[in-house]
Amino acid sequence: MEERKITTSIQIFENIEELPPQVKFLMKEAQAIRDQAYAPYSKFKVGAAIQLEDDIIVTGSNQENAAYPSGLCAERTAIFYAGSQYPNKKVKAMAICVKSSSKVVTKPIAPCGACRQAIAEYEVKQDQPIEIYFMGEEGKIIKAKALLDLLPLAFDASFL
Ligand code: THU
Repeated sequence: MEERKITTSIQIFENIEELPPQVKFLMKEAQAIRDQAYAPYSKFKVGAAIQLEDDIIVTGSNQENAAYPSGLCAERTAIFYAGSQYPNKKVKAMAICVKSSSKVVTKPIAPCGACRQAIAEYEVKQDQPIEIYFMGEEGKIIKAKALLDLLPLAFDASFL
């Protein structure tokens, strides 16, 4: 038996003002689309903004459904839209933010496992890291330099 350690690292920004201008812009795009999310059941709105190469921005919000599992998270709404509309453009970064109707969310909210797996597909496909930035409604922002830093041992096409 052999034991191996898996290590990863994140960077933490104090607030949105501390982000580089391009990322601050991306997070503001995520905030704008978040506020239009369709989340009547959870009342937890999520926004995701993606920067593609050539500075194309695509955004998405969570879309809920009365048949609950039929809804979709913001991150997958956005990444699938990018994959559909711009299949040949590389994904450089994604910014994610949330807003709850019940409290002000001050801690960074990471993308769920299914969204990490979905984003990982594009990172592996393009063989170039996708920077992920996520926050609550206000406060600190966490940055991962690559999606795979958030999903060690990801399932990928090489297993098939
Ligand atoms: N949600 C997202 O949009 N992204 C995530 O990564 C986690 C959760 C949405 C799904 C649902 O509409 C609401 O947040 C509450 O789970």
